[in-house]
Amino acid sequence: MSILLVFVQFITTVVLPQPITISSLVSEIEACNSDWISVGNISGLHYAFRGHLFGQHIAEEQLPVIMHGFFHDENPQRALVLSFHGRTGTGKNHVSSLIAESIYRKGMGSQFVHLKVPQRDYPDKNKLQSYKKSLREEIHSNVAQCARQLFIFDEVEDLPDGLLDVVKPYIDYHDKLDGVDFKKSLFIFLSNVAGRDISEIVLNHNSTRDTLRIRNFEKVIEKMSFNAKETGFHRSRLLESSLISHYIPFLPLESQHIELCIKEEAIKADFPHFPRRQSLKSWKNCSFGQKTLKSMPLKDARIFVKS
Ligand SMILES: Nc1ncnc2c1ncn2[C@@H]1O[C@H](COP(=O)(O)OP(=O)(O)OP(=O)(O)O)[C@@H](O)[C@H]1O
Ligand SMILES: [Mg+2]
Repeated sequence: MSILLVFVQFITTVVLPQPITISSLVSEIEACNSDWISVGNISGLHYAFRGHLFGQHIAEEQLPVIMHGFFHDENPQRALVLSFHGRTGTGKNHVSSLIAESIYRKGMGSQFVHLKVPQRDYPDKNKLQSYKKSLREEIHSNVAQCARQLFIFDEVEDLPDGLLDVVKPYIDYHDKLDGVDFKKSLFIFLSNVAGRDISEIVLNHNSTRDTLRIRNFEKVIEKMSFNAKETGFHRSRLLESSLISHYIPFLPLESQHIELCIKEEAIKADFPHFPRRQSLKSWKNCSFGQKTLKSMPLKDARIFVKS
């Protein structure tokens, strides 16, 4: 008996210095309250962008302002719907994650964040009707439980045609649907649609890149999205009814931005090598990953000095 007592004492004092209580366990379960969901943390988003987002001055300027307006409106007229456009590896998923992290303590791992990826979630175009039904149910049941939900639709160009029409009633100007209020939810669409047009605008701009404003892109993105055949956007009712609140362009990255991405990745991986200046031009965007960095031929590498 005394051995058992010593054992219990050892566990509770040495192995578990803080006793586990029911209330400490409950406090670790994610809930729909301000302990887990923080809508006032816009300065956090601002700093996250400053430190970890490169070459996207429009997203960096616009998104904190847009989010601040939405979250501080006690009675928004409808859900906030953002559409991110740009070429591959320019930061669309990255920014969605930073947004999720600024709102939800569990970031992308939160039960209130729903990432939809076409190849994984909607691989078979013949199953459109069942996908529509389950998406409708998922949105409805989640928002009924907690109003602050984030739905991210990745690679919209690969969504089955017509699936996005399901979203329309939830982002429209309805007061409530079946007793549920959808006006506090956030929807983000990510796509490459209009990526080439965005690049052309940047290339043809006669002044420095940072003088480009969101209005230089909005109309082109909207038009290209509506007309983009065989994409989730193509003539979708959501675009017909102008239900996208903001189109956000992601500009093509220049070598100085890619260099910053490489540096950040090298720090994260605690990796001592960095590409030589001459070989930097073979790095086309920021989606290379640590594997590529680590497999860089040594002749292309220089020692990385943390600054
Ligand atoms: N502008 C950027 N600033 C900082 N890091 C970036 C930026 N763009 C991309 N990255 C880095 O590259 C990785 C891949 O980028 P991301 O997945 O966001 O690209 P994407 O725009 O969604 O591309 P795709 O259209 O191919 O899906 C990110 O996880 C991030 O680490
Ligand atoms: Mg992406």
